[in-house]
Amino acid sequence: MVSVSRDRWEAENVEGGLLVCGDCLEWLRNNSVEVHLTFLDPPFRQGKDYRYFDDNQPEDVYWNWLEEVVARVYELTAGGGAIYFMHREKNAEHVLRTLRETGWTLQNLIVWKKRTSAVPYAHGFSKAYQIIAFATKGKKPRVFNRLRVDYPLLPEYKYPRENGIFVTDVWDDIRELTSGYFAGEEAIRDEKGNRVHTQQSPVALLLGSVES
Ligand SMILES: C[S@@+](CC[C@H](N)C(=O)[O-])C[C@H]1O[C@@H](n2cnc3c(N)ncnc32)[C@H](O)[C@@H]1O
Repeated sequence: MVSVSRDRWEAENVEGGLLVCGDCLEWLRNNSVEVHLTFLDPPFRQGKDYRYFDDNQPEDVYWNWLEEVVARVYELTAGGGAIYFMHREKNAEHVLRTLRETGWTLQNLIVWKKRTSAVPYAHGFSKAYQIIAFATKGKKPRVFNRLRVDYPLLPEYKYPRENGIFVTDVWDDIRELTSGYFAGEEAIRDEKGNRVHTQQSPVALLLGSVES
């Protein structure tokens, strides 16, 4: 097992790949690997306490940082490779601009309806989803498996679907790991049962991306 440590990141070989913990931009700037698929779920500039990141930065500084990350990932990505870039719905405009200006081609703007209570919004509709922009290097993905799923039939549908349907760009069957009881079995906890990483995302989101 090879283990490498720097000031702002450390890496070790694990079964099937390299696990890097630390500042992603610092690593991306100093390393070259061929990338085929990226799932980017960055800090959201919400004042959280992160070891490698000031999550209270001014908006322009924050988006410049993300633009550099996304641009470097693009450089490293092989033709036809893909990125899934997740963010808050209110930042959809920034996400799409960042992808466009760094060379990516948008394929889908996926709506992840989180199956949790919506967050009230004083000036409009309550917020119930997050976005995941799926984009490729070049006009189309080198690989895309059009998976079929068999969602439960809605009452207005008369006949069952023989072969299910292709997965759509609305993902509404994956529950966010919220606080407390509803975070369920998947949430990583300490011995007292407290969440260790409150921003942990459901693995099913990654499987939806990787298996497609
Ligand atoms: C919105 S959360 C996403 C969580 C992730 N999907 C998971 O399930 O672990 C943002 C994540 O970015 C990580 N992070 C913060 N600053 C970072 C940096 N400079 N480079 C890489 N990751 C960073 C945080 O530790 C946190 O896990």
